Amino acid sequence: MWDWHIYIGYVLVGLFSIRIILPTLGQMKFQNPFTKNLTVKEKFQKWTYLIFYICVLISLVTGLIIELGPKELKKPMEEIHVLGIYYLVAFIGIHLGGVLMAEFTNQKGIISRIISGKKIEK
Ligand code: HEM
Repeated sequence: MWDWHIYIGYVLVGLFSIRIILPTLGQMKFQNPFTKNLTVKEKFQKWTYLIFYICVLISLVTGLIIELGPKELKKPMEEIHVLGIYYLVAFIGIHLGGVLMAEFTNQKGIISRIISGKKIEK
Protein backbone atom coordinates (compact mmCIF):
# COMPACT_ATOMS: atom_id res chain seq x y z
CA MET A 1 0.00 0.00 0.00
CA TRP A 2 2.89 2.35 0.79
CA ASP A 3 4.70 1.72 -2.50
CA TRP A 4 3.37 4.94 -4.09
CA HIS A 5 4.52 6.93 -1.05
CA ILE A 6 8.02 5.49 -1.31
CA TYR A 7 8.29 6.26 -5.07
CA ILE A 8 7.09 9.84 -4.51
CA GLY A 9 9.53 9.99 -1.58
CA TYR A 10 12.47 9.21 -3.88
CA VAL A 11 11.27 11.88 -6.36
CA LEU A 12 11.07 14.34 -3.45
CA VAL A 13 14.64 13.49 -2.45
CA GLY A 14 15.70 14.49 -6.01
CA LEU A 15 13.64 17.70 -6.01
CA PHE A 16 14.86 18.67 -2.54
CA SER A 17 18.49 18.10 -3.60
CA ILE A 18 17.96 20.40 -6.62
CA ARG A 19 16.45 23.03 -4.28
CA ILE A 20 19.54 22.82 -2.04
CA ILE A 21 21.95 23.04 -5.01
CA LEU A 22 20.21 26.00 -6.76
CA PRO A 23 21.41 28.74 -4.33
CA THR A 24 25.01 27.65 -4.94
CA LEU A 25 24.40 28.47 -8.64
CA GLY A 26 23.02 31.90 -7.74
CA GLN A 27 19.35 30.87 -8.26
CA MET A 28 16.45 30.81 -5.77
CA LYS A 29 18.46 32.00 -2.76
CA PHE A 30 17.27 30.87 0.67
CA GLN A 31 15.35 33.44 2.67
CA ASN A 32 17.28 34.51 5.73
CA PRO A 33 15.11 35.22 8.81
CA PHE A 34 18.08 36.97 10.46
CA THR A 35 18.18 39.73 7.80
CA LYS A 36 18.01 43.20 9.41
CA ASN A 37 14.98 45.54 9.17
CA LEU A 38 12.40 42.81 8.48
CA THR A 39 8.78 43.40 9.46
CA VAL A 40 7.19 40.93 11.90
CA LYS A 41 5.24 39.44 8.96
CA GLU A 42 8.39 38.93 6.87
CA LYS A 43 10.21 37.36 9.84
CA PHE A 44 7.27 34.97 10.35
CA GLN A 45 7.30 34.01 6.64
CA LYS A 46 11.04 33.35 6.58
CA TRP A 47 11.04 31.37 9.84
CA THR A 48 8.09 29.28 8.61
CA TYR A 49 9.99 28.36 5.43
CA LEU A 50 13.21 27.57 7.30
CA ILE A 51 11.41 25.33 9.81
CA PHE A 52 9.49 23.65 6.96
CA TYR A 53 12.70 22.89 5.04
CA ILE A 54 14.28 21.39 8.19
CA CYS A 55 11.18 19.23 8.81
CA VAL A 56 11.12 18.03 5.17
CA LEU A 57 14.83 17.16 5.43
CA ILE A 58 14.12 15.10 8.58
CA SER A 59 11.23 13.31 6.78
CA LEU A 60 13.40 12.50 3.77
CA VAL A 61 16.39 11.29 5.79
CA THR A 62 14.28 9.15 8.17
CA GLY A 63 12.29 7.78 5.16
CA LEU A 64 15.51 6.80 3.39
CA ILE A 65 16.88 5.15 6.55
CA ILE A 66 13.63 3.15 6.98
CA GLU A 67 14.00 1.90 3.41
CA LEU A 68 17.73 1.59 2.93
CA GLY A 69 19.28 1.75 6.41
CA PRO A 70 20.14 -0.95 8.96
CA LYS A 71 17.29 -3.01 10.44
CA GLU A 72 17.88 -1.88 14.03
CA LEU A 73 17.22 1.77 13.06
CA LYS A 74 13.91 0.99 11.30
CA LYS A 75 11.69 1.23 14.42
CA PRO A 76 13.10 4.49 15.90
CA MET A 77 13.14 6.14 12.44
CA GLU A 78 9.50 5.12 11.85
CA GLU A 79 8.54 6.74 15.14
CA ILE A 80 10.07 10.05 14.02
CA HIS A 81 8.93 9.72 10.38
CA VAL A 82 5.19 9.34 11.09
CA LEU A 83 5.23 12.65 13.05
CA GLY A 84 5.68 14.31 9.63
CA ILE A 85 1.92 14.44 9.22
CA TYR A 86 1.70 17.17 11.92
CA TYR A 87 4.05 19.71 10.32
CA LEU A 88 2.72 18.89 6.85
CA VAL A 89 -0.91 19.65 7.73
CA ALA A 90 0.14 22.72 9.77
CA PHE A 91 2.29 24.08 6.90
CA ILE A 92 -0.44 23.54 4.27
CA GLY A 93 -2.87 25.47 6.51
CA ILE A 94 -0.44 28.36 7.16
CA HIS A 95 0.59 28.45 3.48
CA LEU A 96 -2.96 28.57 2.11
CA GLY A 97 -3.96 31.14 4.76
CA GLY A 98 -0.93 33.30 3.88
CA VAL A 99 -1.59 33.19 0.13
CA LEU A 100 -5.26 34.12 0.61
CA MET A 101 -4.32 36.94 3.00
CA ALA A 102 -1.77 38.28 0.45
CA GLU A 103 -4.30 38.03 -2.41
CA PHE A 104 -6.87 40.11 -0.53
CA THR A 105 -4.44 42.67 0.93
CA ASN A 106 -1.13 43.86 -0.52
CA GLN A 107 -0.35 41.32 -3.28
CA LYS A 108 -3.43 41.21 -5.47
CA GLY A 109 -3.15 38.69 -8.33
CA ILE A 110 -0.68 36.46 -6.46
CA ILE A 111 -2.86 33.36 -7.04
CA SER A 112 -2.97 33.88 -10.82
CA ARG A 113 0.80 34.58 -10.82
CA ILE A 114 1.38 31.30 -8.92
CA ILE A 115 -0.72 29.43 -11.52
CA SER A 116 0.61 31.19 -14.65
CA GLY A 117 4.22 31.60 -13.46
CA LYS A 118 4.21 35.25 -14.60
CA LYS A 119 6.42 37.72 -12.74
CA ILE A 120 5.26 41.08 -11.36
CA GLU A 121 5.49 43.74 -14.10
CA LYS A 122 7.55 46.71 -12.91
C1 HEM B 1 8.50 15.12 2.86
C2 HEM B 1 8.69 13.81 2.82
C3 HEM B 1 7.86 12.80 3.55
C4 HEM B 1 6.78 12.95 4.40
C5 HEM B 1 6.09 14.24 4.84
C6 HEM B 1 6.37 11.62 4.81
C7 HEM B 1 5.32 11.34 5.68
C8 HEM B 1 4.95 10.08 6.11
C9 HEM B 1 3.89 9.78 7.04
C10 HEM B 1 3.00 10.84 7.70
C11 HEM B 1 3.85 8.44 7.21
C12 HEM B 1 2.96 7.68 8.18
C13 HEM B 1 1.72 7.14 7.57
C14 HEM B 1 0.95 6.29 8.60
O1 HEM B 1 1.56 5.41 9.23
O2 HEM B 1 -0.23 6.54 8.75
C15 HEM B 1 4.87 7.86 6.36
C16 HEM B 1 5.15 6.51 6.25
C17 HEM B 1 6.19 5.95 5.54
N1 HEM B 1 7.09 6.64 4.75
FE1 HEM B 1 7.14 8.65 4.46
N2 HEM B 1 7.21 10.70 4.22
C18 HEM B 1 8.13 11.38 3.45
C19 HEM B 1 9.17 10.84 2.69
C20 HEM B 1 9.49 9.49 2.64
C21 HEM B 1 10.62 8.92 1.92
C22 HEM B 1 11.68 9.73 1.15
C23 HEM B 1 10.58 7.58 2.11
C24 HEM B 1 11.53 6.52 1.60
C25 HEM B 1 12.14 6.57 0.46
C26 HEM B 1 9.42 7.28 2.95
C27 HEM B 1 9.06 6.02 3.39
C28 HEM B 1 8.00 5.75 4.23
C29 HEM B 1 7.66 4.41 4.71
C30 HEM B 1 8.43 3.11 4.40
C31 HEM B 1 6.54 4.55 5.55
C32 HEM B 1 5.81 3.47 6.35
C33 HEM B 1 6.41 3.50 7.74
C34 HEM B 1 5.71 2.54 8.67
O3 HEM B 1 5.64 1.38 8.34
O4 HEM B 1 5.29 3.03 9.75
N3 HEM B 1 8.79 8.46 3.25
N4 HEM B 1 5.53 8.88 5.70
